[in-house]
Amino acid sequence: MTKLPQIKARPRAAQIFAVIITGIIAVSTVLTFGVIFVMLRLKIPTITAIVTSTTYMGIFTTIIGVGISAYTSTKMLSPILKINDAAKKVARGDFSVRLEEKSIAKEIEELATSFNIMVKELANTETLRSDFVGNVSHEFKTPLSAIEGYATLLQDERLTKEEQALYVSRILENTSRLSKLTHSILSLSQLENQEIVLQQEVYSLDEQIRRVLLGYEPLWEEKELNIDLALESTQIYGSKSLLAQVWSNLIDNAIKFSRKGGTLFVSCWEFDGKIVVRVRDSGVGMSEEVRLHAFDKFYQGERSHSGQGSGLGLALVRRIISLSGGTIELQSKEGKGTEVIVTLKGDLPTPA
Ligand SMILES: Nc1ncnc2c1ncn2[C@@H]1O[C@H](COP(=O)(O)OP(=O)(O)OP(=O)(O)O)[C@@H](O)[C@H]1O
Ligand SMILES: [Mg+2]
Repeated sequence: MTKLPQIKARPRAAQIFAVIITGIIAVSTVLTFGVIFVMLRLKIPTITAIVTSTTYMGIFTTIIGVGISAYTSTKMLSPILKINDAAKKVARGDFSVRLEEKSIAKEIEELATSFNIMVKELANTETLRSDFVGNVSHEFKTPLSAIEGYATLLQDERLTKEEQALYVSRILENTSRLSKLTHSILSLSQLENQEIVLQQEVYSLDEQIRRVLLGYEPLWEEKELNIDLALESTQIYGSKSLLAQVWSNLIDNAIKFSRKGGTLFVSCWEFDGKIVVRVRDSGVGMSEEVRLHAFDKFYQGERSHSGQGSGLGLALVRRIISLSGGTIELQSKEGKGTEVIVTLKGDLPTPA
């Protein structure tokens, strides 16, 4: 979030105005006495000299005063009218408007700067929102059209039993993709709207990670991965179901982006009041670009695996870790592998 400048009431315009008025009064006084002096030297009677010179000076002062106030009010009013126009455009949804920030009054300058920052922020929010809606509909459309396509093919009565089985299994694959996607979107939106973790308990973290890993056995067996574990007995206080999603997503990624025969290393230990979990693979790794965007919603860097997910896994992981008061770090080298380091609070509640 960009920091808005603080608008302070600084009487710069008022000071300039006071100086101008004092100047006019001083000039008028000097000129009035000057004219009286000249008239007296020309032997014009004193009263006439005073009345004539005061009248001339009055006219002079009025003309100068009106001129200055007309100039100042146009100068001051025009940026305010521009701000008004710009605000109307923003209200109609046009976030491309920007105001000229230079002005004679500091207050108007600061107002214009704040206005520009506000419009920029609003434009970002709008982009995020429309990107999100666009991504969701795109992610739904792909499996839906696949399901429609295979269902149409299945209507052909001349299909062999094998073809039928193949199309049915494709329909089921896409259905489960849709169901995973719906589940991820719902969880993410729910997590984004909550600020605290509910249903926390003390449980064995190493046990939980072992169970999650076991659930992935068919996948790591298929890839013939070497599983290297260093799970120290660790008690944690947190949400069991949310943290299970974290380990699942990280282990799923580590297996998915591993090459056949690679190594998957998972460790957990407590150190200095903190719990550290590491998930490391020797897979394809990430480029700097992918590493920087990996936590973005719907971001998938590795296009060859894009059919196997929706790019919401790490966004969910990051939200859960931040809600749990922890941190997550990605270290990766393209072609060499990736390590994810999660740090969580190690303190347990004191028994009542
Ligand atoms: N262990 C990893 N090795 C290499 N790249 C990874 C790894 N983990 C994540 N990435 C990159 O980060 C991207 C985002 O990961 P994320 O888990 O959010 O999505 P996904 O795995 O593609 O889909 P989903 O998690 O929804 O199934 C991945 O598409 C991939 O490019
Ligand atoms: Mg993933």
